[in-house]
Amino acid sequence: MTKPQVVSTVRAMCGIVQAAQRSGQRVGVVPTMGALHDGHLSLVAASRAACDATVVTIFVNPTQFGPNEDFSRYPRTLEADLAKLAAAGADYAFVPDVAEMYPAGATTMVEPGEVAKPLEGQFRPGHFRGVATIVLKLFQAVPADAAFFGQKDYQQQLVVRRMVADLLLPIEIVVCPIVREPDGLAMSSRNVYLSADERHKALSLSRALKAAESLVTQGERDAATIASRMQTTLREAGIESIDYATVVDAQTLAAIDRIDSLAAALIAARVGTTRLIDNAILSVS
Ligand code: PAJ
Repeated sequence: MTKPQVVSTVRAMCGIVQAAQRSGQRVGVVPTMGALHDGHLSLVAASRAACDATVVTIFVNPTQFGPNEDFSRYPRTLEADLAKLAAAGADYAFVPDVAEMYPAGATTMVEPGEVAKPLEGQFRPGHFRGVATIVLKLFQAVPADAAFFGQKDYQQQLVVRRMVADLLLPIEIVVCPIVREPDGLAMSSRNVYLSADERHKALSLSRALKAAESLVTQGERDAATIASRMQTTLREAGIESIDYATVVDAQTLAAIDRIDSLAAALIAARVGTTRLIDNAILSVS
């Protein structure tokens, strides 16, 4: 259980990755903001299974947080994170500071396209601009062969895939399933904000998605009917602040009337002051 080598500069990190690749190794990268949990570690496991060396990046990216969001209080637990990465077998932890990723005077940003506009894009203006910008910078610092993302942030992986295709980035994007607590709550670094009562209420997100899945299994195809069942499930649990609980096209996130083949059920809701997201793919076979 050797600790991952901690690297803090772009120059050193890039050199390590290029040297590994020159010696024939396939390198995987797992971008994170730290406060690591088993969801993150599942991405490390996927990278280790597919690559010879795994780099985990830990960077709380200021540009993806809105002015009234939780950037300053976002959990920062580096020592515990490094211990988890040692147990998970990650080879390198890239832990830059803000000045390393945003050099003095930095103003260039990546403007993502249509898929970034609805849902999170509407409720968190500028969020995906920050995400796309930092992910591109992380790919520059860690020029890996493959990058591993979670389905937990469904719209994020679509934005990243689109950026990689649009900007001709030579990296493979792998998306891994959502890891849940035994009771169904999707793992999230933000779950630590929840009180016991809020955590109980938060279970209604995964319950609402399960309800959506079983409606589809029973033959329901009407998107509005399924969305309305999800909203009722959330409200009955005492969740009043729902940003969205909706069924949309799984690729474009455009509104749909009926599920023909593949749709995504997506929820964002505030439980107390904590904003949680969760989702499920609804497939009709
Ligand atoms: P963060 O929220 O730390 O998540 C890092 C990665 O872990 C993302 O790809 C996310 O989808 C995945 N993840 C989180 N919870 C998960 C779960 N329960 N199951 C499976 N995967 C999960 O997402 C970000 O950081 C940032 O936006 C980042 C991409 C690092 C850019 O700053």
